[in-house]
Amino acid sequence: MSIQSNISLQPYNTFGIDAIAKQFLSIESISTLQKTIQDLQSSNQSVFILGGGSNILLKNDISALVLKMDLKGKSIFKKEENNIWVKAKAGENWHDFVLWTLQQNYYGLENLSLIPGTVGASPIQNIGAYGVELKDVFESLEAVHLQTGEIKTFNKEACQFGYRDSIFKNKLKGQFCIVSVTFKLSTLPTIRTDYGAIKTQLQVMEIPEKDWTPQAVSDAVIAIRSSKLPNPAEIGNSGSFFKNPEIPLAQFETLKTQFPHIVSYALPNNQFKIPAGWLIEQCGWKGKVVGNTGTYKHQALVLVNHGNATGEEIYNLSTQIIQSVKNKFGIELSREVNVVEC
Ligand code: FAD
Ligand code: EPU
Repeated sequence: MSIQSNISLQPYNTFGIDAIAKQFLSIESISTLQKTIQDLQSSNQSVFILGGGSNILLKNDISALVLKMDLKGKSIFKKEENNIWVKAKAGENWHDFVLWTLQQNYYGLENLSLIPGTVGASPIQNIGAYGVELKDVFESLEAVHLQTGEIKTFNKEACQFGYRDSIFKNKLKGQFCIVSVTFKLSTLPTIRTDYGAIKTQLQVMEIPEKDWTPQAVSDAVIAIRSSKLPNPAEIGNSGSFFKNPEIPLAQFETLKTQFPHIVSYALPNNQFKIPAGWLIEQCGWKGKVVGNTGTYKHQALVLVNHGNATGEEIYNLSTQIIQSVKNKFGIELSREVNVVEC
């Protein structure tokens, strides 16, 4: 496929922002990617890698060449007694991939059901939900260097995974295009229900404990998520807009005296995680409509597009929220969503 000009990115981002890409190219093979990089070497043209557009805020029109990841395919890499290594290409839809692994009786991804986006983006912020993070099932990834076109393999350690974080959001930001990810899955149906809401949901669904299979956990996670989060097909959003902040014990104790009902989760090393949704709700933002934007009525951490919002409007709302949480609690929220202005 050849480069297209002046393409609206509205169908390509879950916020539904109508930003224009000056140049847009669908990448269906590694050789096309490498050739494109080579062609660009003599120019100053920058590139932006686009997956499913479910964790970006397009602040303005994009002058970089947008490379849309459409590499497809999955294969078995290796098998051992209780494990199987599955490799999936970057453009595979994440949730479809999760469902496919469950159909094959490969386990480990069930808690990560219904997360939007692509396989290739999953390591970027080490996606996580319901007690599991990508790093728990990650083996390695292959990525093409955006300057040289060379393919490099990264193991888990090299990715420097953290909470909603990896080396690709820091030191190597914008330098590599992930082309495939290999997962180490289990062939034993061990389930993880330590995240309390899963057990409650399995009970609500009247599934007896002896039938708590990985498929049942996936169904429960899908049900919880569908009740809490807005469906981007109906209301534009990018999931949690901010990360949940982590604060030290001393700061937590001071806040606890001021706000005795503060919600918190104790972490190792005397740190406390405070749900950003709680902080934002306490500042009066939950369900508030601000022009074309606002926060979701059931989840204050999710910023929404009520219609024709621009990226700038959503960005400005996020700045106001950061300011008011800072004023009330002395905590500085940081954005989880990738703000794109290139
Ligand atoms: P994009 O939004 O297209 O890109 C995100 C970033 O990754 C951009 O900087 C982009 O340049 C870069 N990128 C994308 N693909 C590649 C690649 N192949 N190589 C290099 N860089 C790349 N996230 C969670 O962790 N947990 C959740 O529970 C969760 N729930 C969500 C619920 C909703 C309703 C929505 C809308 C989002 C949610 N998210 C969640 C966020 C989002 O689904 C994930 O971050 C997802 O991995 C983004 O994938 P994507 O393909 O859409 O990436
Ligand atoms: N809360 C409020 N008001 C709100 C929203 C939340 O008070 O409006 C409080 C409640 O006390 C609730 C707590 O916050 O119990 C936690 O809320 P929730 O269970 O909805 O989870 P979250 O912390 O808001 C995180 C992730 C989600 C992930 C879920 C489940 C982050 C930034 N977000 O949300 O990930 O799906 O846990 O594991 O870590 C995403 O990254 O885009 C995302 C959706």
